[in-house]
Amino acid sequence: MFSTNNTYYSLLATILLVLTFVLSEGQLSATFYSTTCSNVSTIVRNSVQQALTSDSRIAASLIRLHFHDCFVDGCDGSILLDVGGNITQSEKDALPNANSVRGYDVVDSIKSSVESSCPGVVSCADILALAAESSVSLSQGPSWTVLLGRRDSLTANQASANTSLPSPFETLANITSKFSAVGLDTNDLVALSGAHSFGRSQCQFFSQRLFNFNGTGNPDPNLNSTYLTTLQQNCPQNGNGATLNDLDPSTPDTFDNNYFTNLLIHKGLLQTDQELFSTDGASTISIVNNFANNQSAFFEAFAQSMINMGNISPLTGTQGQIRIDCKKVNGS
Ligand SMILES: *[C@@H]1O[C@H](CO)[C@@H](O)[C@H](O)[C@H]1NC(C)=O
Ligand SMILES: *[C@@H]1O[C@H](CO)[C@@H](O)[C@H](O)[C@H]1NC(C)=O
Ligand SMILES: *[C@@H]1O[C@H](CO)[C@@H](O)[C@H](O)[C@H]1NC(C)=O
Ligand SMILES: *[C@@H]1O[C@H](CO)[C@@H](O)[C@H](O)[C@H]1NC(C)=O
Ligand SMILES: *[C@@H]1O[C@H](CO)[C@@H](O)[C@H](O)[C@H]1NC(C)=O
Ligand SMILES: *[C@@H]1O[C@H](CO)[C@@H](O)[C@H](O)[C@H]1NC(C)=O
Ligand SMILES: *[C@@H]1O[C@H](CO)[C@@H](O)[C@H](O)[C@H]1NC(C)=O
Repeated sequence: MFSTNNTYYSLLATILLVLTFVLSEGQLSATFYSTTCSNVSTIVRNSVQQALTSDSRIAASLIRLHFHDCFVDGCDGSILLDVGGNITQSEKDALPNANSVRGYDVVDSIKSSVESSCPGVVSCADILALAAESSVSLSQGPSWTVLLGRRDSLTANQASANTSLPSPFETLANITSKFSAVGLDTNDLVALSGAHSFGRSQCQFFSQRLFNFNGTGNPDPNLNSTYLTTLQQNCPQNGNGATLNDLDPSTPDTFDNNYFTNLLIHKGLLQTDQELFSTDGASTISIVNNFANNQSAFFEAFAQSMINMGNISPLTGTQGQIRIDCKKVNGS
């Protein structure tokens, strides 16, 4: 009897240990706020919808904020921190973010709405993940269940923001290795590139393709000639590098698979967009073809890849904090 009891208690202890390990391992969960802020998704969605009424670009801007957060030290809200207190260099001022990442004010207003219903409970990192999903689903794209429970960082990493984020001027091999460095594969790369189904880009991010590509004296040969003419008119040499162009010229504000059908006719705006289809022998070509021919396949893959991206090194449990103001570490 005594020894049976012993076995029983040691089994119980083992189960508890395993459970503790699983919980502290920091998996995100769909029900993380179910008792503390059950309506958080609705609050975020309503705020994004409100923002869209005055700014059709904001959906694309918000998803880009989540992406640029996750690629630098994981999805921890670090991109939102301003210089101040212990933050001496912000990610906002890093080369890939300065003068192009936008939507910080909208994140602040979402956070205020969330704070007024559920004070001190929901992280800024989770707000970025929820806002990204709302942005896509409100633009006729797929919806998915956002996993939650991320906490906010106490630090920002400008050096990593400078080097870890993909640039629009890189080769497919370089971009692939930046995705691989955060645990994302070629399928994720192609699916997530489909976020360029909406949003705008400034001329300065593709004008190198229009007149003297890579020192050849000619435009990028992978650029459709009629599209080239349009782009040369909108982005003349020595013109304003900040002029905006639709990333998807066919349906600029709708989230659909036209980004991929555009690539088949060489109408990808950024060098890194077109490279997915035009790099000789690349494994991305068949994925582009599949997404161009089957929007459901793209939507399914996109939702899964957003979950994969949202899982990049989150802070969980007692790590980090729940920031009250997304722009600063509490008490600073
Ligand atoms: C959202 O839910 C929280 C509790 O989970 C509640 O206190 C708050 O009033 C709700 N807010 C709205 C706008 O329904
Ligand atoms: C990041 O890049 C910017 C712009 O090139 C540069 O001014 C800054 O010093 C860099 N920051 C770090 C930490 O390397
Ligand atoms: C691509 O990666 C190689 C090897 O790391 C590097 O030498 C090269 O500068 C990178 N090219 C671009 C355009 O970033
Ligand atoms: C640009 O030119 C360099 C040197 O000729 C070459 O190695 C590189 O692959 C070219 N890049 C592209 C995108 O064509
Ligand atoms: C360029 O775009 C037109 C449609 O605007 C298309 O008919 C043509 O096939 C495209 N050319 C190439 C080389 O993809
Ligand atoms: C399109 O993709 C979906 C989702 O992957 C798949 O179930 C369906 O069979 C595909 N349709 C065709 C015509 O291949
Ligand atoms: C700033 O850093 C110091 C030294 O690491 C630390 O003691 C302090 O708590 C930090 N301040 C905030 C607001 O995080």
